[in-house]
Amino acid sequence: MQGKRILLGITGGIAAYKIPILVRLLKKQGAEVRCVLTPSAQDFVSPLVLATLSEQAVHIEFWNKQTGVWTNHVELGLWADVMLIAPATANTISKMANGACDNLLLATYLSLKCPCILAPAMDLDMYQHPSFKRNLATLEADQMHIIPATFGALASGLEGQGRMEEPEAIVAYLQAFFSNHSPIAQVKKRILITAGPTREALDPVRYISNHSTGKMGYALAQAALQAGHEVILISGPTQQHLAHPHLTLISIESAQELLQAVQANWAWASHGIFSAAVADYRPSEVAQEKIKKSDNEMTLHLVKNPDVLAWAAANKTNQIVVGFALETNNSEQNALNKLRNKNLDYIVLNEQQNGVSGFGSDTNKLIIFDKAESRVELPLQRKADAASSLIQILEA
Ligand code: CTP
Repeated sequence: MQGKRILLGITGGIAAYKIPILVRLLKKQGAEVRCVLTPSAQDFVSPLVLATLSEQAVHIEFWNKQTGVWTNHVELGLWADVMLIAPATANTISKMANGACDNLLLATYLSLKCPCILAPAMDLDMYQHPSFKRNLATLEADQMHIIPATFGALASGLEGQGRMEEPEAIVAYLQAFFSNHSPIAQVKKRILITAGPTREALDPVRYISNHSTGKMGYALAQAALQAGHEVILISGPTQQHLAHPHLTLISIESAQELLQAVQANWAWASHGIFSAAVADYRPSEVAQEKIKKSDNEMTLHLVKNPDVLAWAAANKTNQIVVGFALETNNSEQNALNKLRNKNLDYIVLNEQQNGVSGFGSDTNKLIIFDKAESRVELPLQRKADAASSLIQILEA
């Protein structure tokens, strides 16, 4: 990042309060940072703080009424190696998609000669709104790079997708972005990964789920991206974060949504790694209103969920299909049965030992069987290292 010139566009969303941290991190990495704000961004983050941390004047208006100096948006656009708009509100994204130019940030965007990256942030319903999706698709078609919003608690008090990616992850994204813009970088494989738990709704406020944290799936995605591959990560609700120019993150909740996302992207993939902890069953009916307590006992009627991994293996053309088996007893035999029954290319056995391996732990002990049932036992290692080892095996 040393010497990279980053033009940071900041729009009026609550996530703007995190931008001073981003500026600091970028400066620490040796980048030059200049900030352009929309007028409403000032309500969320102080221009004085941004000017102090970036060691540069902050630009908001076309001309400064006190000094009479005009801000040259063309010069700003020519100066930058990349423009990053974070947070990018639904309003600014809508204007960008339509070529509107009613503030300095938008005029600068229209004058750019460099790539532009967007980190959207908004409430979950806005993020899912068809008009927003349409605008984002327009910008993607205009070669815009998108850092998808993440899943979690929102300023509205609701929980869902709409949080701006964390500053640390945005910095990691930019580092990868610059390294991938060097001529030696090349995209190799197209890896689809499922990660995290699924949630099976009972009523509008309750669901059935499991303790999966998504750590292993995200570690796999990170290892694959680091090795230069392109990744689609289809993730249930987790606290994990990942952003990268070669990553498409798709958020799902239920097993049925997971299946739909896999089906929509399966033809794209060269490899599928199915590490999600999919709920095997879901309530047969989802109550439209909150279920009230009545009797001392309650019976739930569950129906079987689709087996996403089995669907992928049965519908493969040339893809390499990797399943996961989380076992507590008779582990190797159970894993081999899954390899055979689901017609997989690899099965990765992951023994659940609380705090050491499996759900929630930072380390994993993996045993990998290939189609010929030959066995590779990896040492107990950090999930990141276990993930790199698995990616290396798939590359061989
Ligand atoms: N899997 C899936 N869809 C499901 C269930 C599981 O894609 N509905 C995938 C998991 O991501 C994992 C593998 O299948 O890769 C786990 O195999 P499975 O036989 O379903 O494991 P369990 O659900 O643990 O089965 P069991 O309870 O029979 O051990």
